[in-house]
Amino acid sequence: MPGTALVGIQWGDEGKGKVTDLLAASTDYVVRYQGGNNAGHTIVVGSEKYALHLVPTGILYPHCIPVIGAGVVVDPQVLIEELDALENRGIDTTRLLLSGNAHLIMPYHLELDRVQERRLGRNRLGTTKRGIGPAYADKAARIGLRVQDLLDPKIFSAKLEVALKEKNLLLTRVYGRLPLDKRAVEDSYLEYGKRLTANITDTSAVVQRALDDGKEILFEGAQAALLDLDHGTYPFVTSSNPVAGGACTGSGAGPRDVTRIVGIAKAYCTRVGSGPFPSEADPADADILVEAGGEYGTTTGRKRRCGWFDAVAARYAARLNTLTEMVVTKLDVLSCFEAVKICSAYEHAGERFEEFPPNQTVFNKASPVYESLPGWGKPLGQARQASDLPKEARAFLERLEELVRTPATWASVGPERDQILELGAPHRKYSQHRG
Ligand code: IMP
Repeated sequence: MPGTALVGIQWGDEGKGKVTDLLAASTDYVVRYQGGNNAGHTIVVGSEKYALHLVPTGILYPHCIPVIGAGVVVDPQVLIEELDALENRGIDTTRLLLSGNAHLIMPYHLELDRVQERRLGRNRLGTTKRGIGPAYADKAARIGLRVQDLLDPKIFSAKLEVALKEKNLLLTRVYGRLPLDKRAVEDSYLEYGKRLTANITDTSAVVQRALDDGKEILFEGAQAALLDLDHGTYPFVTSSNPVAGGACTGSGAGPRDVTRIVGIAKAYCTRVGSGPFPSEADPADADILVEAGGEYGTTTGRKRRCGWFDAVAARYAARLNTLTEMVVTKLDVLSCFEAVKICSAYEHAGERFEEFPPNQTVFNKASPVYESLPGWGKPLGQARQASDLPKEARAFLERLEELVRTPATWASVGPERDQILELGAPHRKYSQHRG
């Protein structure tokens, strides 16, 4: 049975949690395949609001099995805190399955993330300081500790010894920090291991069996295409592969198992952290978007940089992901503008770029070429079907479909669960990504 991947097609924070909520009713497993607690999904269920960072959103639906796959990096302390907080709100967390192959975020990863960012000064990446980059670096260097190491105190101790020898040198000699105490790290991590033992399993076997049994699987992407380590705006990226291809490597499913690929895009753009952002709005418009859209990070509380919908970047992301459809979120936020802009091309040194430039120098210096469409000037929060939308809002969505070359199947018009509407058949005419 095919799986569905749900991926961000901008710089993250597109509202993926809301779309998971939409698909959850027909989903048996929700699988996180990359990233760690740098992510932040806000989900509103009834009068309850949940901000999840590491636990898959499937935890909120009693019929779903939430899975943390091998491609995720796990801070066990954060995971346990998140599980405890959910339990305290009456949510059963015993169903959570955690891959023994997932790598652990260790205390030295957190420390290194902080000091390395500080050392970079004005060249810093603006990371979430959750130890994500250093943990993935150790994984690639093959000196990482994995979740399954928590189950064998001897192995854990031996691997920690090797890792700490190097990390303590780095922390003390290069960064002038205090060394970490092996005993303290070991004691706390082995305790975490005891707490998580019942959740740890071979999740790739679980996922494959579920697919064989015809279960519905939702691969829940964190971050987004433009933050992808290989395809994003490097070095201002995260250290994993949020694109749909990552759903396979990070979960153990095969490429033929993922057949529906839903790209989530906000009706405008935001970015947190450093890095180029061609369609970044001028401060007055950006402030309106921040306030109307509540654009503060779920994980770090940072104010997000805001700009207009970047169709060049979205089209690039649509290709990278072979999107089968897209969902446009936060359409209601644009109601406060008399005219809405879309960046449909870039310009650099007299040259016009309709497609994502292959060269970072061009992207870093690109100026946006905007189209301006008439705004709709009315709140959209009450709209529940396409015909409830003002014609200007429908025209805006149709223009996005045309530019991204992907059908928009849903649009969301507010944070509440029911503030989402299915778009009609005319919106399904563009599907040009090798589909
Ligand atoms: P890291 O993932 O903490 O290493 O941060 C690398 C870059 O990715 C920084 O620009 C972060 O702001 C950005 N980033 C990481 N996670 C998210 C997210 O969930 N939403 C938006 N940006 C993110």
